[in-house]
Amino acid sequence: MRDYLIAPSILSADFARLGEEVDAVLAAGADIVHFDVMDNHYVPNLTIGPMVCKALRKHGVTAPIDVHLMVSPVDRLIGDFAEAGASYITFHPDASIHVDRSLQMIRDAGCKSGLVFNPHQGLEPLKYVLDKVDMVLLMSVNPGFGGQSFIPATLDKLREARTLIDASGYPIRLEVDGGVGTANIREIAAAGADTFVAGSAIFNAPDYRAVIDTLRAELAA
Ligand code: DX5
Ligand code: ZN
Repeated sequence: MRDYLIAPSILSADFARLGEEVDAVLAAGADIVHFDVMDNHYVPNLTIGPMVCKALRKHGVTAPIDVHLMVSPVDRLIGDFAEAGASYITFHPDASIHVDRSLQMIRDAGCKSGLVFNPHQGLEPLKYVLDKVDMVLLMSVNPGFGGQSFIPATLDKLREARTLIDASGYPIRLEVDGGVGTANIREIAAAGADTFVAGSAIFNAPDYRAVIDTLRAELAA
């Protein structure tokens, strides 16, 4: 069995009580915190920036923070997020003019780097940067909002990404983001994912531990 990680997306958390919400999902068994950054330019929504990441660290969050940048341009925010305590920084290749440079900047800043692919995008940009990538994130919805339905074509793309990653020999994580829940996590894992973002499936449930336990039980089944 793979080493699976559950990554609640705080986009669906109660922002008025963000510290408590993050504590609660981690206490309920989550592995990493998925942190969605939207700029009302690359995506039609506006969320949170480095100050909030820093505040979570100050609050005492020690778990990895997985910063998903849905912003353009990318590079100017890398240093700010590294300083704010980001663990992973992932970005969309079409949001950066020089993808190789952005990946290198993330690693130079001491973080793990990742590339994110939208539902319609192929994996071609990965081919020549596999040695600079720690995470590949496949969007299974169009980025911008929580609570959307999983796009089934992602399963084929996950299989393709898994083949590429395994052939590369690099220890690259394969993350999936959007519409993931207890009803589909098993087939998503079977297609090759090892890191599962779930926003509404976790935060809209009354009992975070019960959902996370069910997600893990599905992965173990
Ligand atoms: C969408 C975000 C996702 C989102 C997932 O643009 O990147 O992380 O919060 O939410 P759910 O799990 O509700 O689809
Ligand atoms: Zn995300």
